[in-house]
Amino acid sequence: MSERNEGISRRSFVQTLGMGAAAGALQGHAEARLTGQDEGGTGIVGPGPRPITLRINGNDVRLTIEPATTLLDTLRVHAGMTGSKEICDRGSCGGCSVLVNGALTASCMMLACDAEGAEITTVEGLGTEEALDPVQEAFIRHDALQCGYCTPGLVVAARALLDATPRPSLDEIKQGLSGNICRCGTYTNIFNAVLEASGQAPVTDAEVNRG
Ligand code: FES
Ligand code: FES
Repeated sequence: MSERNEGISRRSFVQTLGMGAAAGALQGHAEARLTGQDEGGTGIVGPGPRPITLRINGNDVRLTIEPATTLLDTLRVHAGMTGSKEICDRGSCGGCSVLVNGALTASCMMLACDAEGAEITTVEGLGTEEALDPVQEAFIRHDALQCGYCTPGLVVAARALLDATPRPSLDEIKQGLSGNICRCGTYTNIFNAVLEASGQAPVTDAEVNRG
């Protein structure tokens, strides 16, 4: 082949081949991203849906979600577990609290993909209908709710607190539940529920407000 043949140089021919190969690779990569498959071994998946298995309340739950889906939306929308509440959706109210490997976690701030392989415990996983968790029993006995929207998150946070500190002081309870906001202001009853669940005497509004 001569250097020039019908207007195509050897150099431009090779360049064109290279660009074609690059375009093919890019197209394959884009398709892999769209289908959620990491075919190029790049570690990048999505934005298309991909299969995922989450360990929720002791069960393996298989779902197909987009990688950008939060753990909260995955629980509520895809797994049908609506106990965890979406209130602020920005990590500031605690309504979506779950335990991830025992650690209190705002599920609205975590991607479900990042929870793969972890033990996730939601409020549905605390106790059973026949035998509630002592925290749940105490919330009922102390009427520790009004609208109830903050309650699941507070129950999970209280369980995390008592797992770490079985007999917390009032200050430790306030600290342990400080990431959970009750807009109805039911704090004295909430604190007393936690005190009872840890085998301690209740306090008054005045004691709660003192510090
Ligand atoms: S909804 Fe997650 S912290 Fe408020
Ligand atoms: S009971 Fe209504 S927000 Fe707490």
